[in-house]
Amino acid sequence: MTNIMQDIHLEKIIILDFGSQYTQLIARKIREQKVYCEILPCNLPFEKIKLCNPKGIIFSGGPSSVYKKNAPLCSKKIFELNIPILGICYGMQLMAHLLNGKVASSSKREYGRAVLKHSTSSPLFLGVKQEIKVWMSHGDRIKSLPEGFTSTAQTNNSPHAVMENNKRNFYGLQFHPEVAHTEHGVDILRNFIFKTCGCSATWDMGSFIEYSVQDIKKRVNGGKVLSALSGGVDSSVVSVLIHKAIGNKLTCIFVDNGLLRKGEAEKVVAAFKDNFHINLLYVDGSKQFLERLNGVKDPEKKRKIIGNEFINIFEQEAKKIGKVDFLAQGTLYPDVIESVSFKGPSAVIKSHHNVGGLPKRMRLKLIEPVRELFKDEVRILGKELEMPHSLLHRQPFPGPGLAIRILEEISLPRLELLREADAILLEEIKRAGLYEKIWQSFAVLLPVKTVGVMGDSRTYENVVGIRAVNSKDGMTADWVHLPYELLEKISNRIINEVKGVNRVVYDISSKPPSTIEWE
Ligand code: XMP
Repeated sequence: MTNIMQDIHLEKIIILDFGSQYTQLIARKIREQKVYCEILPCNLPFEKIKLCNPKGIIFSGGPSSVYKKNAPLCSKKIFELNIPILGICYGMQLMAHLLNGKVASSSKREYGRAVLKHSTSSPLFLGVKQEIKVWMSHGDRIKSLPEGFTSTAQTNNSPHAVMENNKRNFYGLQFHPEVAHTEHGVDILRNFIFKTCGCSATWDMGSFIEYSVQDIKKRVNGGKVLSALSGGVDSSVVSVLIHKAIGNKLTCIFVDNGLLRKGEAEKVVAAFKDNFHINLLYVDGSKQFLERLNGVKDPEKKRKIIGNEFINIFEQEAKKIGKVDFLAQGTLYPDVIESVSFKGPSAVIKSHHNVGGLPKRMRLKLIEPVRELFKDEVRILGKELEMPHSLLHRQPFPGPGLAIRILEEISLPRLELLREADAILLEEIKRAGLYEKIWQSFAVLLPVKTVGVMGDSRTYENVVGIRAVNSKDGMTADWVHLPYELLEKISNRIINEVKGVNRVVYDISSKPPSTIEWE
């Protein structure tokens, strides 16, 4: 972990991640209550946790069992910090285990909904009706409580569904308050963060900016920062945020690989140079990239060539700036869980990123100011930084760009053809008010020619494919049922306006088994 926020004045809750699929949900729910919350790997050294000066700590759930050989643990010293701790599911069992209670595997796994009855005296259940439906997902359960704890709620299968030590402010929940299936789950979390930890609801994106700016200034300490600007949401927001902190000590490098969509490079230059007055080095590498890609058909080879070429150009340009200390990256939270301890959903997407080789080769330290945020939070941050809506709500676009949407060999005329077809498609999708409702929509150029007829003559020309998919994270996707009228309009316009195309087809495959991109 490179840049944990260590500002002692920032009120925060820390979640120690023991691998639950719901960990990020806990963080979200807390930040929605306007309390800053950060997720840290469970095995982070105690001293580092202490330095964060949290108002409270949450142990997340996790798939393990406390008695397993490689069960994830945390330092026992955490219990001496004298701050409230809430253990959820595995987190509760671990708390019991570390404090000398007994955990045993239950004869009946409890999975799904259960009815919980609690005693009204518990501070966590203030304002919560006595019987609630909760979401359970565990094999083990607490057999005997650690010293000083009492059991304050039960379900049919868990006699100790909630345990607490009010004196020390330690609480354990066998169920998941963070999931929507648990009634009053948010109230229980609110009681913990406000009543027990004494947080105030003062955190928002404005204060995030304030703290980030301070934090970045402190870390950078007069040094220089480079940013690889792609024009996508994450690298754009990160660049604007860092610029706010250190002004012209930041240089953004934007490499035009000649594989971008129509008018894209111009838009990026206009937004960053003219609007935000950011030091922007625009590098036209299109010729170089095209030369290297000449005759290459294999998609993975294309990716490799583009990634390597990008690094070469970036490195060359960076040398012109002189000594640089940091590289800014738009790493998001889903990328972090992948790299810290547990695989996250973005693992595959991440492996596509083409800036990965840079810091190692250039010996740069990473600066990742949005690593704790989710995509939608990054968009809110961008809005707070007064960035244009159109820049913040762009559909994802792959690093290798149109190279993986021109099947087989790439050439300048084929690039021009696809750029035009793609521009028409996007224009019509936007006009129909669908652009922001669709995860990705784009055109691909197929490596086949088909026969057509135009006027009185026979044609033998290219086929353009149209793809529109909805997805949550790019890992799975459904094809979008675009209205027939819209498809008709897009097809007519592409065939009439783009020279060299006599057929348009619509891709009706979902992922899996297909992928979103065609290559
Ligand atoms: P696939 O085609 O694997 O795509 O279903 C999933 C998501 O990843 C994007 N993608 C890439 N992004 N470099 C990138 O930066 C790549 O090489 C790459 N390949 C696919 C794709 O656009 C979709 O959002």
